[in-house]
Amino acid sequence: MNYNELKTLIQDSRTTRRFKKDAIVNFEDLKEILDLARITSSAKNMQPIKYILVTNKDSVERLTQTAKWAAHLKDWEQKEDEKPSAFILMLNDQMIDGFPMFDAGASFTAISLAAKAKGLATCPMASIDKELCKELFVIPDCYDVMIGIAVGVGAENIKLVDTKKLDTNYYRLEDETHCVPKRTLEQIIVGEY
Ligand SMILES: Cc1cc2nc3c(=O)[nH]c(=O)nc-3n(C[C@H](O)[C@H](O)[C@H](O)COP(=O)(O)O)c2cc1C
Repeated sequence: MNYNELKTLIQDSRTTRRFKKDAIVNFEDLKEILDLARITSSAKNMQPIKYILVTNKDSVERLTQTAKWAAHLKDWEQKEDEKPSAFILMLNDQMIDGFPMFDAGASFTAISLAAKAKGLATCPMASIDKELCKELFVIPDCYDVMIGIAVGVGAENIKLVDTKKLDTNYYRLEDETHCVPKRTLEQIIVGEY
C-alpha cells in the first residue's frame, strides 16, 4: 500500500450511523478484524483490552435501541432499516495493570480501518448501555465495559470538511450528506521548533 492509498483509507474510515438492512457480518469477519486490533501498541505491552463479539439479532437490536446515536443531530433518529449488523464490545480487564484508554483508542483505530478495508463501517459508542451488556452477556466483575462498536455495511455519504468558526458539530446537508468538521493543521499544530 502506498501513502495515498493509506490516506484514502483513513479519510474514508468514518463513524457511520446508517447501515444497510440485513447485511450479514459474521464472527469470521470480526475475528479477522480483532486479529489486527490485538497487535496494536499497548502501554507496557500489558494488553488489558478484551472483547465480546455480538452478531445475535436480538442482542444487536437491544444494544442498538438503548445506545444514543448522533447527539448533535437533534432531528434525526436511526430508522428500523438503518440498524447495524453486529457489535464489538471493548472491555478493560481490571486485573491487568495497563493504560486502557490509550490502548482502546489504538485498538479502535485498527478496528475501524480493518473494517473499512473489508467493506464494513463502524460507529464507536460510549453511550452503549453497560448495564444491558451485563444482562445480556456473561461479564465477570473484573471486566469494565468501556465502549461498544457498531459494525455493518455503511449506507450513507460522509464528507470531511474544515471547521468553520471552530465549530466541530457534525451536521447533515439537504441531500443527507453527513459532514464531519475537522480542525485544520494550522489549528492543531501549536508549535514548530
Ligand atoms: C470515544 C468515542 C465515543 C463515541 N460515542 C458515540 C456515541 O455514543 N454515539 C454516536 O452516535 N457516536 C459516538 N461517537 C462517534 C463520534 O461522534 C465521531 O467520532 C465524531 O462525530 C467524528 O466522526 P468521525 O469518527 O467520522 O471522525 C464516539 C466516538 C468516540 C471516539
